[in-house]
Amino acid sequence: MSEFADKLIGWYEENKRDLPWRDTKDPYRIWISEVILQQTRVAQGYAYFVRFMERFPDVFALAEAEEDEVMKYWQGVGYYSRARNLHAAARSIADAGAFPTTYEGVLSLKGVGEYTAAAICSFAYDMPKAVVDGNVYRILSRWLGMDVPIDSTQGKKQFAQAAEELLDKTRPALYNQAIMDFGALQCTPSSPDCQACPLADSCAALAQGKVDLLPVKQHKTKVSNRFFNYIYVRTGNHTYIRKRTGNDIWKNLYEPVLIETDTDLTENPEVFVQKLQGVLKKQADVFLKPVRLGVKHVLSHRVIHANFYELVLPEDFGDLEGYQKVPIEELHKFAVSNLVYQFFSLILKPNNQKI
Ligand code: ADE
Repeated sequence: MSEFADKLIGWYEENKRDLPWRDTKDPYRIWISEVILQQTRVAQGYAYFVRFMERFPDVFALAEAEEDEVMKYWQGVGYYSRARNLHAAARSIADAGAFPTTYEGVLSLKGVGEYTAAAICSFAYDMPKAVVDGNVYRILSRWLGMDVPIDSTQGKKQFAQAAEELLDKTRPALYNQAIMDFGALQCTPSSPDCQACPLADSCAALAQGKVDLLPVKQHKTKVSNRFFNYIYVRTGNHTYIRKRTGNDIWKNLYEPVLIETDTDLTENPEVFVQKLQGVLKKQADVFLKPVRLGVKHVLSHRVIHANFYELVLPEDFGDLEGYQKVPIEELHKFAVSNLVYQFFSLILKPNNQKI
């Protein structure tokens, strides 16, 4: 048995986190946890997982639910395409009658890539499939001293091969859980505690003083800026919302009136008012009241700068094209992004409105 796997598993036995998806072999439960954890940290994902499982305890419950309800349960987790894919996949599993039991079958589920398929198949079915994610790139690049870029074709191949070789094939579930926690808690991206590391003696990066330089990435992600100007438009006891379409992270979530630009409108009030008139379509006095909540939402390749305003229109203003007019007291029924949730909370909480 390899020294690497033994030390890793030894460390895990001492340090493992007690997580609710670890005491099961149910592939549905494992799948849900892995999808939640794809881009969400354990500390945040934990409560969502528990709530989601209570409402959708098996794949049939999820398949039978309406998408709006699934989105509501996902609200706050972020990266909402995951919830849409999960729901679509649940329906195809329900149609087939059971969760797939082969690696290829699991990999063919919508939203499931090689990493998630390896996690599900090793945890649920004890298949000798190594998980390879950012944690694993980091651990292997350091321990083996590999400086081939992790985002190059060559790098991906070499890391996948190294991961397969190091995997403890007699205990793949234990090994994969161990490497995930080791990456999250011990071999962390910055300031890892190498002094307390059980693999320090044999770590190539530590011996060469390169821990902070690994892993190597060849492309820095190009980041674009988007400016979201949200306006809570109130007429009497109604407000306007719409379901977001288009293929982005908040697709199918609801939002208030939005003017989206690639420049900062706070520096251009005339342009802002002009754009707003375009949305309202008819002449109205527009006294925009800024709401004190400036948010910078950093995603993997986009920074969303959000600004928020309140606009009160006459009670008989009528409809806004493209928006639904809803009673304010019913706002809480609609799934919204975290950002919009914060905005609504700030506006409605002073009146003790439930959202
Ligand atoms: N991150 C992704 N999958 C995980 C798991 N099963 N346990 C802990 N962290 C994880």
